[in-house]
Amino acid sequence: MRLSGSSALALLSSLACLAGQANADLKGVFAHYLVGSMGGPDEAVKDVQDAKAIGLDAFALNVQDASASWSTSAIQLLFDAAAANDFKLFFSFDMAVLDQPSTFLPLFKQYQNNPAYYYHDNRPFVSTFDGGAKSFGASSPNAGWQSQLKDALASSGINPFFVPDFDDYGGATYDAAFFSNYPVVDGVLSWEAAWPEVNEGTANVSSAKDQVAIQAAHAAGKVYMMPLSSLQFKHIDGGQNWYRRGELNLPERIAQVLELQPDFVEIITWNDSGESHYIGNCWPEAIAGAPAIQAYSNGFDHTGWQAVLAPFITAYKNGATSISDVTPFGEFAGAFWYRTLLKSASCSGDGLGKPSGSENAEDLINIAVLLPANTSGVNINVYSGGNLVSTLPTTAGLNMAAVGIKTGAQKVELVNSAGQVIGAGSSTMDVAADTSGVCNFNYQVVHIA
Ligand SMILES: *[C@@H]1O[C@H](CO)[C@@H](O)[C@H](O)[C@H]1NC(C)=O
Ligand SMILES: *[C@@H]1O[C@H](CO)[C@@H](O)[C@H](O)[C@H]1NC(C)=O
Ligand SMILES: *[C@@H]1O[C@H](CO)[C@@H](O)[C@H](O)[C@H]1NC(C)=O
Repeated sequence: MRLSGSSALALLSSLACLAGQANADLKGVFAHYLVGSMGGPDEAVKDVQDAKAIGLDAFALNVQDASASWSTSAIQLLFDAAAANDFKLFFSFDMAVLDQPSTFLPLFKQYQNNPAYYYHDNRPFVSTFDGGAKSFGASSPNAGWQSQLKDALASSGINPFFVPDFDDYGGATYDAAFFSNYPVVDGVLSWEAAWPEVNEGTANVSSAKDQVAIQAAHAAGKVYMMPLSSLQFKHIDGGQNWYRRGELNLPERIAQVLELQPDFVEIITWNDSGESHYIGNCWPEAIAGAPAIQAYSNGFDHTGWQAVLAPFITAYKNGATSISDVTPFGEFAGAFWYRTLLKSASCSGDGLGKPSGSENAEDLINIAVLLPANTSGVNINVYSGGNLVSTLPTTAGLNMAAVGIKTGAQKVELVNSAGQVIGAGSSTMDVAADTSGVCNFNYQVVHIA
């Protein structure tokens, strides 16, 4: 919509009246944020400022306990930090853990009119992880959510914009039948569409489920929130030991988001070190009580991915439909990432053994490099195990590439047409063929700076 002159002013001032809780726009980009005990306000402020700096609109606060003080005090610190930094938050209630909406309604009521709460269409946004198969004593999950969430809040004059992850509802995807059986939702998130399943082998991530969901959601007048993630590696106990690609999953999903133009995007995740798909800081004390997780996330910094995500977020918001439009803010941006263990590792010293799905891993050095529209003649030099193993030409926008990795040190350089190195990144952890320690399939992410 284009506006000019006095009508624009009139409209703007009428919007300003409505704008008490702004963010009516589509194309919000969020990151899933696990709420755990927090050391103090500094961590909340740093997370909020980092997220805002890459263009995120809000954190989706994953709440697993709606009343314990470790949880409520972290939530308060995050709302304070968000309010002070013009950032937003909304709740994503974890229904794999929480019993029923009545356990979280007091928390939601308390914060839904906080100035830092994220609104869409003048309604407080709320999401879940799972809950699509829970009926809470009603005749169906839809009836349960309608009475325990929507009707219960309507009596307080609150009309939430409800966009749950209902992947667990029992169908293969969110199709027309889903939307006719779940009129209670205003939209959906598909958590599981972010990565290939273990049983899909070495397939690249597919957007087939997203495509069905977007069409069916729009046909029903609802929204689709598309998940974007890097990998999933969990290595906690016998029941939680798996690897889901990985490799170029993140830039491949970026391409899919731009092509499909979902209404919202949720990055999985900001700080879930247990599943290895964090892009933010993982605070040491936050996982101090989880030595299994520390063992595969300490020293595995993923913040380099933010350099790739920030220009993507801008491009998506500006309506880009192709990776060739994902251009850096400066001369270049980029990161590369790799696993520090070859997939053939025996991991004989690790009682948990190799993760299921490790057979789908590929021994690659994965690269995403962003170059401006007028780029010309830049090459990517890839060094693995101390030798130059590949020189790759580039083009404008997001370049993704994967090159076979060798044990030892890793390095990527960007070289311009005059032969000058304009950007580079080097590994701080070598690749090994095997280990007597943890069978770690997490990624080292190196910022190309
Ligand atoms: C995410 O960050 C919060 C705040 O620091 C922390 O409480 C939580 O434990 C973190 N989660 C993980 C898995 O590191
Ligand atoms: C997966 O994608 C990469 C590029 O992203 C491509 O080179 C490769 O052929 C794809 N693999 C399959 C099985 O389609
Ligand atoms: C591309 O454009 C920028 C900004 O105008 C300029 O600084 C840069 O030198 C140009 N690069 C090339 C390779 O032409």
